[in-house]
Amino acid sequence: MTCVILRAVDAPISRRFDKGALAFSEYLRSPIGRIRLDLTWAQLRAHLPTRRLDVLDVGAGTGDLAMRLAHAGHVVTMVDPSAQLLKISEDNAHALLAPDAVKRIHRVQGTVEELPKLWPNKTFDLVLCHCVVEYIADETVVFRNLDLLTKDEGFLSIVVPNHEGHALRFGARGMLKQAIEALSAPKVDPDLAFGVQRRAYDLATLEGRVRGLEPIGIYAQRIVADTMPESVLQDDYGTVLSLETAMAGVELYRRLGRYLHFIGQKPANADLAKTSVRRPPPPPRRG
Ligand SMILES: C[S@@+](CC[C@H](N)C(=O)[O-])C[C@H]1O[C@@H](n2cnc3c(N)ncnc32)[C@H](O)[C@@H]1O
Repeated sequence: MTCVILRAVDAPISRRFDKGALAFSEYLRSPIGRIRLDLTWAQLRAHLPTRRLDVLDVGAGTGDLAMRLAHAGHVVTMVDPSAQLLKISEDNAHALLAPDAVKRIHRVQGTVEELPKLWPNKTFDLVLCHCVVEYIADETVVFRNLDLLTKDEGFLSIVVPNHEGHALRFGARGMLKQAIEALSAPKVDPDLAFGVQRRAYDLATLEGRVRGLEPIGIYAQRIVADTMPESVLQDDYGTVLSLETAMAGVELYRRLGRYLHFIGQKPANADLAKTSVRRPPPPPRRG
């Protein structure tokens, strides 16, 4: 049996995401919802070692990435405040995975803010936080906690909405007012999700938040998928996915996607490295 730990978490948060759980799950089955997951998986998989990893998926939602990782042999702990989303993820895992892979997924109801309390003495080989950071009021706490739970030489994978692509996306669809607004309000994502306003990032800001990590992969997601006619995405999904995959790491296009995907590796002896960075410079030599 998999382990599901249901806990009392901050009620307004879990209620908000519980309410949108079914609609979100449906959306992820549509081509435009699915392509972000397919791209995230392809981009991540290219960098992972083949040995079995101990993975933490923070704000794991319906558990799509958790299932792919468990299917590949890794052990995954999902954390999410929404009991509904955890339930959907469990049902999906039982429906889609072999029993041994089902057993490799564990679920804990909780928030990113609580991570150090949930695992005071544990770190993970790989920490995922996909489309979550943008909802959290105090992003300093989020990035600190993700770093705390990542092992030295372990990997952190973050996906956030990218504001630099918004004006182009709206402009190309003829939504001119929204395009102009997107240029003047770059820190806010123009689309509501779960009925919540969320932040948007640009690459420089995101890189600044994860400065302690060695960037090993930086990609865009949905560079062209959002602006093409829906029928193309529907009828030729595989080709669109190949096109997005080929464009995703190209410098020219990387800043224009709907989402940014950062994959970084923590240095060996990261705590020592931090201490040595903080050490004051030596006094000037005399004479
Ligand atoms: C847009 S969904 C993304 C789900 C999944 N990571 C994905 O890529 O499809 C946002 C997720 O963040 C979760 N979430 C919201 N607030 C959170 C918090 N404070 N800590 C951890 N997860 C949170 C929600 O319950 C939801 O599952």
